[in-house]
Amino acid sequence: MLLPRPTHLIREAGHFALDAATSVCAPVGVADLLRELLTPATGLPLPPVGAPGEGVISLLVRDDPELGAEGYRLRVDPAGVRAVAAAEAGLRWAVQTLRQLLPEQVYAAGPVTGVPWRLPMVEIVDVPAYPWRGSLLDVARWCHPLPLLYRYVDVLAMHKLNTLHLHLTDDQGWRFEVRRYPRLTEVGGFRVASPAGHLRDGRSDGVPHGGWYRQAELRDLVAYAARRGVRIMPEIDLPGHAQAAIAAYPEFGNDPTRQLAVGTTWGISTHVLNLEPATLAAVHHILDEVVEVFPFEYVHVGGDEVPTAEWAANPAAVARATELGLPRVADLQGWWTGRLAEHLAGHGRRTAVWDELLDRGAPAGATVFAWRGIDRIDAARAAGLPVVAAPYSHTYFDWAESDDPAEPLAIAGVLPLRTVYGFQPGDVLGVQGQLWSEYLPTEQRVWWRAFPRLAALAEVGWSGPVPTDDTGAVPPGVWAEFRSRLTGQLRRLDRAGVSYRPPDD
Ligand code: ACM
Repeated sequence: MLLPRPTHLIREAGHFALDAATSVCAPVGVADLLRELLTPATGLPLPPVGAPGEGVISLLVRDDPELGAEGYRLRVDPAGVRAVAAAEAGLRWAVQTLRQLLPEQVYAAGPVTGVPWRLPMVEIVDVPAYPWRGSLLDVARWCHPLPLLYRYVDVLAMHKLNTLHLHLTDDQGWRFEVRRYPRLTEVGGFRVASPAGHLRDGRSDGVPHGGWYRQAELRDLVAYAARRGVRIMPEIDLPGHAQAAIAAYPEFGNDPTRQLAVGTTWGISTHVLNLEPATLAAVHHILDEVVEVFPFEYVHVGGDEVPTAEWAANPAAVARATELGLPRVADLQGWWTGRLAEHLAGHGRRTAVWDELLDRGAPAGATVFAWRGIDRIDAARAAGLPVVAAPYSHTYFDWAESDDPAEPLAIAGVLPLRTVYGFQPGDVLGVQGQLWSEYLPTEQRVWWRAFPRLAALAEVGWSGPVPTDDTGAVPPGVWAEFRSRLTGQLRRLDRAGVSYRPPDD
């Protein structure tokens, strides 16, 4: 019934019935979350009470080394509910579990009558397999509206996914307000057209698109996510995938006399930031504003798909490579990203990068997001760097779920649900599912591609990889058990008003 599957679960006969007298003994933020999640559908007030006891839902922080940073123990019996965790983070996941234990109508946004709000009697111990359980949402290619971002956070928390990686900038749009450089959004946030159909068709829709988020809006989103135990990692993609920034500030590019437009086609722009001290200083200023808005320890500075032709043709860049003793102009990327990492370290932050940096001098201590295949996970580990497993082969949910021609337009590739569920990430910091949004212009499309695959990846991240057979396939019994719980989870999504692609089997 629970998804992700808990580490240990014993179901006993009996239940605890919630009613108007049920009260809550918990740290304020956790009690607030419980009410925020249960009261709209149940109508129950769930008032605070000072001590655990009969008829009380108690959620308490207790020293317990077995539970780690996010684990919890939960017991439901006819007298009440008692959950303990070593930190509030674990209690927040216990709240999500309690919600899943209730009838699925609890996910409705408004009051539901005639439902017995009963929790089955259970004993649960639940500790995540991986500390990083993420989901990337690309809001650069299409500026998804804030209400979608709020719903997205809700749904991540439902699946005990703890990190939203917001891809905020790219060639086709800059969505993060920077007070010091207002043109980044005023100019870089808007493009005159987007591809119609697939990029390879070479057609344009001729329709302007744009938008950006105010810092205040993002702060509110960050706070909302934090109440649910979801951290938001911003990504400012640098020094490539930065054409929108160069369109806004031509002096950031390699030919300051050239006025570029914000990108109107997908793919990889050949235009990248220059490596001049003034541009580096500007990027530092931008990151200063990023860390003000996003308190999470990690800041992602991109680094994927950076063409170097402009540097190779730029005498200043070539001279810098020589002066630094770098064998290749491409190695300038590692040197330059190292300067960003130092700057972020000065703010007490850690730097995250895409795996291309492994080939160009990844900054010491950077966390590598391995996307170009399973071997990139091994390469990051061999380099002694922490790694988040994000390979396209198992985690690129912008790929179609099947090869059925009726699938909505996808960027490339096919990634079936079973492949996701069979993913073996290995010894890594965690896993992350990617929703690049070139072909996800609407909320409907975002959900279609996200679910159910993100539910499968959430289970890999929380419950750990499932055993697979000699061919790497998920054994039928293991699959059937997951599928039956997935059916229950999809009913919860139905109630929450979140759509998804119906699973094939
Ligand atoms: C990527 O897919 N370019 C990280």
